[in-house]
Amino acid sequence: MQRLAVIFALVLCGAARGQDAEKLAPYYPTPLVIVEKMLDLGGLKAGEKMFDLGSGDGRIVIMAAQKYHADATGVEMADDLYRQSMQKIRSLGLEKTARIIHGDIFKQDYSSADLLTVYLLPVSNDKVRPLLEKQLKKGTRIVSHDFPFRDWTAEKEITIEDDGEGRSHTLYLYRR
Ligand SMILES: C[S@@+](CC[C@H](N)C(=O)[O-])C[C@H]1O[C@@H](n2cnc3c(N)ncnc32)[C@H](O)[C@@H]1O
Repeated sequence: MQRLAVIFALVLCGAARGQDAEKLAPYYPTPLVIVEKMLDLGGLKAGEKMFDLGSGDGRIVIMAAQKYHADATGVEMADDLYRQSMQKIRSLGLEKTARIIHGDIFKQDYSSADLLTVYLLPVSNDKVRPLLEKQLKKGTRIVSHDFPFRDWTAEKEITIEDDGEGRSHTLYLYRR
């Protein structure tokens, strides 16, 4: 029920901002406590390459670089979110290990990734899946927030019942 409410909120939010059809999900940030759980579940280690598909305000990329000492890249199409996240990266002095590509999720090369994080709509996971199956090297981990990848079997699934604000979150870990 709660998940349905999130889908509904995501769709309404997108409509309210007049986003076009290519947008795979509107901006709906992952709470920081859940970001940390995602990176822990993905087993992110220092020096590994991670990508966040649709990076929003850059919070996952920033935590991956700052706390986990990973090489972190976000992909974000929205101008304001791209600018805001790059500003934050610069203000934290993380430019060497964190960056945001101002572009389309579908037009990037993820073949060097050790870990991908994803928080998109269920139908968007379906659309992105073929690209990931084609590009990802063996062993790449994928952590998806709230929505599974159909046709992939999760190696692990965890639910955090309360994020501190009364919302529950499910995280899915996959390995190619
Ligand atoms: C649900 S938000 C998740 C943000 C962030 N990953 C997080 O978990 O906090 C999805 C993000 O994907 C971005 N997005 C949607 N479609 C995209 C596309 N085709 N290319 C790049 N970014 C996209 C949206 O602008 C939005 O910021």
